[in-house]
Amino acid sequence: MPKHSVKDWFWKLTKGNLKLGSRWSEALKIGEDTGYDSGSTLDFVYRNQTESQHLLGKVIDHQYLNAIGWKGIRVRKQHIEQLLAKYAKRLQDDQQSVKILDIAAGHGRYILDAIAQLKTPPSSALLRDYSDLNVAAGELLIEQRGLEKIAKFELGDAFNRDELAAIEPKANLAVVSGLYELFADNDALRQSLQGLNLAMEQGGYLIYTGQIWHPQQEFIARALTSHREGQAWVMRLRSQAEMDALVEQAGFSKVDQCIDEFGIFTVSVAKKL
Ligand SMILES: C[S@@+](CC[C@H](N)C(=O)[O-])C[C@H]1O[C@@H](n2cnc3c(N)ncnc32)[C@H](O)[C@@H]1O
Repeated sequence: MPKHSVKDWFWKLTKGNLKLGSRWSEALKIGEDTGYDSGSTLDFVYRNQTESQHLLGKVIDHQYLNAIGWKGIRVRKQHIEQLLAKYAKRLQDDQQSVKILDIAAGHGRYILDAIAQLKTPPSSALLRDYSDLNVAAGELLIEQRGLEKIAKFELGDAFNRDELAAIEPKANLAVVSGLYELFADNDALRQSLQGLNLAMEQGGYLIYTGQIWHPQQEFIARALTSHREGQAWVMRLRSQAEMDALVEQAGFSKVDQCIDEFGIFTVSVAKKL
């Protein structure tokens, strides 16, 4: 924004108000401290409760949780649960034990909730994220749910092809959710998708999310900070065709897709060829 323009003042004021609101609102505090696109923010959105002590904070939390984007994120979680159950069953019907891998799991709540809904539990679930805070929170969730025998959370870089390629055991149900739309560079996505391909068994399924538009994109970019050291959260929206092409180039064939009623978030499935 041009310095001292009306728009510049407007967005500065909006940012200031969010910071001020974070004194009372848990939602805004988590956003300001860890980024509005962080694993901690997503976990708050999945918990979906006004957790502030202060009444004003509770009102802000309520408004925040009911923003269209966060409603869509909770629908995306349901879609991941449905698709994970559908393709886990398909693998189990083929007499295969299910080996789950999530390369940027945040706190992992959504994936552990999805696992809890499976009729037959997976033989393993490896959750990864590059943030120590998320790994610690995820390990605690695994322990609270008594899933230590099958689930493990480790630190890892979702864009490091060789690191992903070395993952053992090879997965047959892999998930990448809410990650790629935070990054503009398609080459980074190609590295990540190739690594995912190498981390999977042939015939395995990859569940991946897409974000094709967002009605509050300007507000998000100008007012909200990201998990990357407080930089602006500038979403890199991709058309479904672009996202699917990247996945197919990495050696997958698309087999399924869900989308929320707002048309924001897609969850797709592709099979490793
Ligand atoms: C918007 S959150 C999505 C979390 C979760 N997958 C979900 O769908 O709820 C983005 C996550 O990506 C993680 N992340 C960002 N860059 C990463 C990288 N290079 N390697 C692994 N995780 C990364 C962040 O720490 C954060 O937990």
